[in-house]
Amino acid sequence: MRAHRYPPIGAMRFGVVLTLVALLMALVTAPAPAARGAASTPGQGADLRPPGLAKQDTLRWVAPNDFRIGSAVAGGGHHEQQPYPPPFFNDEEYRRLLAAEFNSVTPENQMKWEFIHPQQNQYNFADADAIVAFAREHGQHVRGHTLLWHSQNPPWLEQGNFTPDELREILRDHILTVVGRYKGQVQQWDVANEIFDGSGNFRTQENIWLRELGPDIIADAFRWAHEADPDALLFFNDFGVEGINAKSTAYYELTQELLADGVPVHGFSAQAHLSIQFGFPGDLEANLQRFDDLGVATALTEVDVRMVLPPDGVPTDAQLARQADDYRRALQACLNVDGCRSFTIWGFTDKYSWVPVFFANEGAATVMWDDFERKPAYCALQRALAEANPGGAERYERHPAYAECAG
Ligand code: XIL
Repeated sequence: MRAHRYPPIGAMRFGVVLTLVALLMALVTAPAPAARGAASTPGQGADLRPPGLAKQDTLRWVAPNDFRIGSAVAGGGHHEQQPYPPPFFNDEEYRRLLAAEFNSVTPENQMKWEFIHPQQNQYNFADADAIVAFAREHGQHVRGHTLLWHSQNPPWLEQGNFTPDELREILRDHILTVVGRYKGQVQQWDVANEIFDGSGNFRTQENIWLRELGPDIIADAFRWAHEADPDALLFFNDFGVEGINAKSTAYYELTQELLADGVPVHGFSAQAHLSIQFGFPGDLEANLQRFDDLGVATALTEVDVRMVLPPDGVPTDAQLARQADDYRRALQACLNVDGCRSFTIWGFTDKYSWVPVFFANEGAATVMWDDFERKPAYCALQRALAEANPGGAERYERHPAYAECAG
């Protein structure tokens, strides 16, 4: 898999009201937080479909009740260099579909250090607050992203010449402040993002925390996040860890060590930025399963499937079919693992995708075209979600959505 860096060279170019019944169900079924799948997070057992969505033909509607189908929320990062205004606040059709299609959201950039903590003594919570409020209004979970990373850190931090003690305190304060602010409203946090390189070694050069404080800081980050919100599930998250390889095995071993030390690590997630020109990671399910066997939740958190575009910029039918198949296989791998109850795509429309900005000549990576028309990949996800319900295949066959998608 092609290595990517953030920011990459390429980047330079460029309410819901719960019914009383549902509320009672949520209270009754909400179990104690545990180092077990997202299936045991508060509210998971309840039907959180907002009133009015019930008869709609959308991903969240066909999905099993306890399954989270999510999208990144476009804003910050590469969007700031694009000609359009911030999508989440300005594109009404985008907002309507974000609410209608998904029961989980992840701020694409709005909770990253450079965005939420732009100056040492200044936080910028406005966008993250708005996303969390939107999620509450529409019965959606939130995946918080991210707390300890080598990329998208503000200059004041990277160039601050802080002592190790000062840095430790800065990280602790940041985690307690940000996780604490959204206590009870963010169900999963990507605590540590991309801490290993492709060989399974800690990124001790690029990552300021690992470089200055050593790998022990990782356990502290999880402890601080847990202190700030004991109910949130705390994850490791990375790309290139879909299959069983040196990098995913480094996470597997680190997770075991931390669990043995009583560190509150609750999940392992693969980003799953896939590409049709590379083979699909056929051992994705086996990889997720080995983490499941450790008793931690798993998730796919940033799924997209990019492709090298033909000269006219229009994907061929064969490319679209292959893309649909990769989306379907990724979702099916997650559905097949008990503790994998959360599947997030990294944006749902090509209109706002990060891919063309970061990968030269590549694109069309999401499940909807620029005008929000559904691609075969959308239909593949919808069908797989529907079929995951008991009797779902038959019901889906009868649904008008199937005829539309079957084309
Ligand atoms: C990307 C965003 O999509 C862009 O808007 C931003 O410019 C750069 O970061 N792995 C991650 C995500 O964990 O945070 C990255 O998101 C994509 C790769």
